[in-house]
Amino acid sequence: MTTERQSIHGQWSSRWTFILAATGAAVGLGNIWKFPYLTGEHGGSAFVLVYILCVAALGIPMMMAEVMLGRRGRETPVNTMRHLAKEIHTSPHWQLVGWAGTVAGVLILSYYSVIGGWTLAYILYSGVGTFSGASGEAVSNLFGKFVGNPIGLLAWHTAFMIITMFVVARGVKSGLEKAVQWLMPALFVLLLVLVGYAMTTGFFLKGLAFLFTPDFSRLSGSGMLAAMGQAFFSLSLGMGTIMIYGSYLPKGISIAQTSVSIAVVDTLVALMAGIAIFPIVFANGLEPGAGPSLIFETIPVAFGNMAGGTLFGTLFFVLLLIAAWTSSISLIEPAVTLLIEKYGMTRLHAAFWSGLITWALGLGTVFSFNIWSESTLFGLNFFELLDYLTSNLMLPLGGIFIAVFAGWLMTKETSKSELSMKGEVGYKIWQILIRYVAPVAVLIVLCNAIGLL
Ligand code: TRP
Repeated sequence: MTTERQSIHGQWSSRWTFILAATGAAVGLGNIWKFPYLTGEHGGSAFVLVYILCVAALGIPMMMAEVMLGRRGRETPVNTMRHLAKEIHTSPHWQLVGWAGTVAGVLILSYYSVIGGWTLAYILYSGVGTFSGASGEAVSNLFGKFVGNPIGLLAWHTAFMIITMFVVARGVKSGLEKAVQWLMPALFVLLLVLVGYAMTTGFFLKGLAFLFTPDFSRLSGSGMLAAMGQAFFSLSLGMGTIMIYGSYLPKGISIAQTSVSIAVVDTLVALMAGIAIFPIVFANGLEPGAGPSLIFETIPVAFGNMAGGTLFGTLFFVLLLIAAWTSSISLIEPAVTLLIEKYGMTRLHAAFWSGLITWALGLGTVFSFNIWSESTLFGLNFFELLDYLTSNLMLPLGGIFIAVFAGWLMTKETSKSELSMKGEVGYKIWQILIRYVAPVAVLIVLCNAIGLL
């Protein structure tokens, strides 16, 4: 088997396109919606600290490993794992890692799309000036009414799934890549505007203290697991998204540098969202642990009380929608390429069927916020269960297997030449992190959270 294989699904035109696409996949609802609400639920600074440690020590080496496997395999994650396992004469069962990841992507997208639908609805609400001058309480009430209506949520979820599958069906066209090039920086600028507003609330320092004053007493096992799960989620690791994006990467591009850039940008966006949101939470007497509703209650208040807020607020939700959109595409790409490679479907059919299944699963999340909100298992409703299962269990476990495969089973010659790092030291650090630190840390956090340690 040669190492010069090409993906049948295409190739990025340059390193820059890959960075844009992978950053587009990484930066999404995870940064702006999920990171602040998880931070609030888990008490602030301790969560943030564990999160940053996980990104640096686990996230970056794992991202490098996933890109490397993807670029060498150049196929859908299932086939990539199967072929790479064959190449090093080990069990074909390694393809199960690809299967689990592909399923995880579909499960995540099923609820991601529901929240993406909320973003669509909030573009409309802001656009017609609903939030203009609104109080925290009014915005909260509106949110409660909004999620209480299953038909409305279903319609928005359907609309989000349609726009996602539309892009997936066409293949990731340069139009989208070009758009991301402008829209991501625009999102960043609007986050800065929000941070500027947060500074005027009089609670800016309180917000910063909440995020950054170390308070180890609040470091619970479940909080650590949530922080680790969030690091995987936010960087899109552990399920094959980065592997499939790596499979479209031309040879000769530095995997290490690229991975570090993506991780840094992703983390900065999440931290900025936190820095913007918590002062607004405190200034308006809102609850930091409010859960998934957090940004849908704070951001409208901020823009509603700002000059030009209707315009900027609408723009903010438009940009959030685009961030969510570029991530949702990446969640389903492993499933779509699997249907094409394994079952010979056309891209259009593959997009249709995978989209339909994801959409149907999404009904569970739609109902979790209204008619099924009281149906729980282990105290979690359908949406919470799905989120726990995927972010906290499937992604970290997928990560362990990928780390073991890349660190222990692949030969040193292969990983070294694939990563082609300049210095010996960089490679050594990667090797230690991927062989020892990543698998051991993930196991400890998992065992600790389920009470085994
Ligand atoms: N990282 C994205 C976000 O933060 C979501 C996402 C895209 C994802 N692809 C993924 C999460 C793969 C886990 C795995 O919104």
